[in-house]
Amino acid sequence: MDRIRIRGGRPLEGDIVIGGAKNAALPLMAAGLLTEERLELGNVPQLADIHTMAELLAQHGIAVERAAPDGRVLRLGGAIGSTEAPYDIVRKMRASVLVLGPLLARCGEARVSLPGGCAIGTRPVDLHLRGLEQMGAEIRLDGGYIHAAVRGRLRGAAIVFPFVSVGATENLLMAAALADGQTVLVNAAREPEIGDLAACLVAMGARIEGIGTDRLAIEGVARLHGARHAIVPDRIETGTYACAAAITGGQVRLMGARVEHLGAVARTLREAGVEIEEQPDALLVRRRNGLRGVDAMTEPYPGFPTDMQAQYMVLMSVAEGAAMVTETIFENRFMHVPELNRMGARINVHGASAIVRGVPALSGAPVMATDLRASVSLVLAGLAARGETVVNRVYHLDRGYEAVEQKLAACGAEIEREAG
Ligand code: UD1
Repeated sequence: MDRIRIRGGRPLEGDIVIGGAKNAALPLMAAGLLTEERLELGNVPQLADIHTMAELLAQHGIAVERAAPDGRVLRLGGAIGSTEAPYDIVRKMRASVLVLGPLLARCGEARVSLPGGCAIGTRPVDLHLRGLEQMGAEIRLDGGYIHAAVRGRLRGAAIVFPFVSVGATENLLMAAALADGQTVLVNAAREPEIGDLAACLVAMGARIEGIGTDRLAIEGVARLHGARHAIVPDRIETGTYACAAAITGGQVRLMGARVEHLGAVARTLREAGVEIEEQPDALLVRRRNGLRGVDAMTEPYPGFPTDMQAQYMVLMSVAEGAAMVTETIFENRFMHVPELNRMGARINVHGASAIVRGVPALSGAPVMATDLRASVSLVLAGLAARGETVVNRVYHLDRGYEAVEQKLAACGAEIEREAG
């Protein structure tokens, strides 16, 4: 297993190109199942999760063609040969469950492995299933699989989510696009990735109102056609490198980043003493003075994203004063804390909150990553720490961060990957 070795203490200076959003690319690829015509996606990031989704689509019979030399353009299309999403692929990536709505809407049946638990909590898919049942699907769980079927087409329905779910909103939005009649999704997630999916579906002929709000009204159509769509820049990658610039006291231009998608992250970082300046097609992030402890609580968009919680905690671990970081989305998302404490951080977890007391400096140590965002938080800690940090199990990183060591090294970080 590869490792990343970092010698900390260098301020980052330079430009980092922000890639397309992984969490937009995955549902957009699943949307390729909604039409037999060609869907061309641009600005596709080069990540392990994207390869996993391509593998899953290929299993359904969809041809996935990399149409640019750098692999950033994907062309999807073709008839669906199999409606089964097997355990071997779904267990690698929970987002595989996003094929359920499209398969059911297009083929009237689907057999999708239950994603099961993962490192950050149990993460059930009950909202996805309940919504599809309301649209007329019959759903049975058997042998670790979701068996879903509908006679004729799915029917439009009024679906009120008891709480906000990104994945359930996406699955039902895609299913509703091909359903018979109107579907209304109330208390829908509003993440920019959902706006991106909706924009692409509209380009494919879907009729959707309320994009960007928590109430989506979808008038189903009988068929969707091909389209071309460029994926939005990754707001989590943006926030992560903003924290990297800030924690090292450097200055980095995040090329292609959009401040309007950062939501509460931009506000919180600014309050903590990080400068974020909008430039044409870039954000300049720098820190000239000390960092202040500022509380943060994770919430659905536009609140502070759970996917930025670990990175922000590292920043707070070297801030002046204390910060309370509260996780409200996932029940078990503080696995980075013991590793950060081994690097000299002073963090105490009480239930869903962590008190982070700032220390003057972190010190390098061998550490181990447990999930995607926890891994990158350890890289950030290593960049700021005195001495050497070795981050083990970096395959988690490769699921969601493209060329992380090249991007950081280009800004002066002393960082390298070692094949293990
Ligand atoms: C997506 C993101 C993930 C991010 C998360 C929250 C993708 C591919 N992944 O995950 O990076 O951390 O949003 O912003 O976009 N829940 C249920 N029942 C359901 C569905 C969800 O109880 O049917 C719970 C989950 O366990 C969790 C919460 O709802 O506690 C939010 O989950 P959800 O928004 O669905 O996250 P994902 O779509 O899985």
